[in-house]
Amino acid sequence: MNQREQWASRIGLILAMAGNAIGLGNFLRFPVQAAENGGGAFMIPYFISFIILGIPLMWVEWGIGRYGGTRGHGTAPGIFDALWKNRLAKYIGILGIFLPLVILIYYTYICSWTLAFSFSSLLNLYPTPDVTPGVSSPKEYLAPYQGYLYNYIGATTDGPIMRPEPVAYLFFFITLGISFWVLSKGISGGIERLSKFAIPLLFVMAAVLFVRVVTLESPVDPEMGAIRAFSFLWEPDLSGLLSPKVWLAAAGQIFFTLSLGIGAILTYASYVKKDEDIALDGLSTASLNEFAEVVFGSTIAIVSAVIFFGFSGAREVASGGAFKLGFISMPAIFGHMPFGEFFGFLWFLLLFFAGLTSVVALSQPAIAFFEDEFGWSRKRSVTALMVIFILSVPVPMFVKGGLDEMDFWAGTFGLVILALLELIIFMWIFDSERAWEEITRGAHIRVPRVFFYLMKYVTPLFLVVILVAWGYEHLPEVLAKEDGGIWLTRGFLAGLFILHILAIRWAWKRKTG
Ligand code: ALA
Repeated sequence: MNQREQWASRIGLILAMAGNAIGLGNFLRFPVQAAENGGGAFMIPYFISFIILGIPLMWVEWGIGRYGGTRGHGTAPGIFDALWKNRLAKYIGILGIFLPLVILIYYTYICSWTLAFSFSSLLNLYPTPDVTPGVSSPKEYLAPYQGYLYNYIGATTDGPIMRPEPVAYLFFFITLGISFWVLSKGISGGIERLSKFAIPLLFVMAAVLFVRVVTLESPVDPEMGAIRAFSFLWEPDLSGLLSPKVWLAAAGQIFFTLSLGIGAILTYASYVKKDEDIALDGLSTASLNEFAEVVFGSTIAIVSAVIFFGFSGAREVASGGAFKLGFISMPAIFGHMPFGEFFGFLWFLLLFFAGLTSVVALSQPAIAFFEDEFGWSRKRSVTALMVIFILSVPVPMFVKGGLDEMDFWAGTFGLVILALLELIIFMWIFDSERAWEEITRGAHIRVPRVFFYLMKYVTPLFLVVILVAWGYEHLPEVLAKEDGGIWLTRGFLAGLFILHILAIRWAWKRKTG
């Protein structure tokens, strides 16, 4: 077994964990989820989900991760096997490497667009729209920017296959190169160093953009400013409370944004010291992420869209999805302001750093699996991941609808399942009192005992209720989808899952001789 690495400093650990959590999800996914699910109607289920899902699960994943790390395991298969002496446990843990890998495959590709668009913004490569803001509809105004994105990703063709521009491959390989370079330097020498530089910079960039957005003036309506625009998300609305779809979206966003139920927090936590104060560190991670999401993520893209396009226009833009909001609407808005090139550059660079620190986090479970369970060196493990990655990336890159399908199964649905399994195994099968002891050991804060009951009863029950209600109402409609390359993508995901089963069998066979 390799000697396991550790984080070098506490501040480095917290910044790395914040980098793990803060990502494209905060700045692109959150505003769209919120807008699509009723704005104010989404926010109440979102905050409830943060308290009864986010915080308890954050602690559970830190606890599980540290427990596994001290026993030589950094991923769910090995850790579940150590927590539950049952030969099925390691197979259940597959999700802890499968989900981050699937997310990584499309996430890195999107991250590469952000790098490319930071240059497009700086060099002002977008076509100039021949329209007037406020007079022309958002659709007309955004058309040239939409054309620019669609050309870049090759989504202009009719068939199920997309043909990105050559420059998209270039930026993809640059992004891949940077992330693998960081990963090959290891936990403290690579990931921790990147986070110590990228996360403070990210907060500075977000603060500059925040100030720019809240001082934005509407091109047509002098009455429309940031204060009014904030009501898009912040006008309380109880109507979402009875909708399973809104609850699943809110819970899914909490998981995605905090990187919970993915396996990524758990793996990072396996590199902490034995008596690290994981209670406080976990809370700090969750708080930093929520600050980035609720203050900056909700403001930059949404408030600027409302000021620029009005309430219904912003709704129309957000209903077009994260790419429309981030890659089409934002350049259009920046294109209309003084020094827009600079602010556009800042926006995409912010997304790039947010994405990159999550890309390395999503890569680490597979690397840890190879290192811990196969005993491979870091170099070999990183290279193996790179090969798997390059063989898989054609799915989100070329298959129309492939990216959304992967995001649905791994980034919305799968992580709720893994979170539920973690709770059952840690709080029920392992032993809830020992689990609580594991979470609170070394803590300098008193973790309220109410969280014990949340972790043991409320959080799992809450997840079951959401899953059942949502499955009953929406699963048939999801499964009936036929368009584009959906079945190709599902076939790919099934094949990848089978490969995971084989890898686990192989690893355990080697270990037991
Ligand atoms: N937690 C990461 C994000 O929000 C995956 O993007």
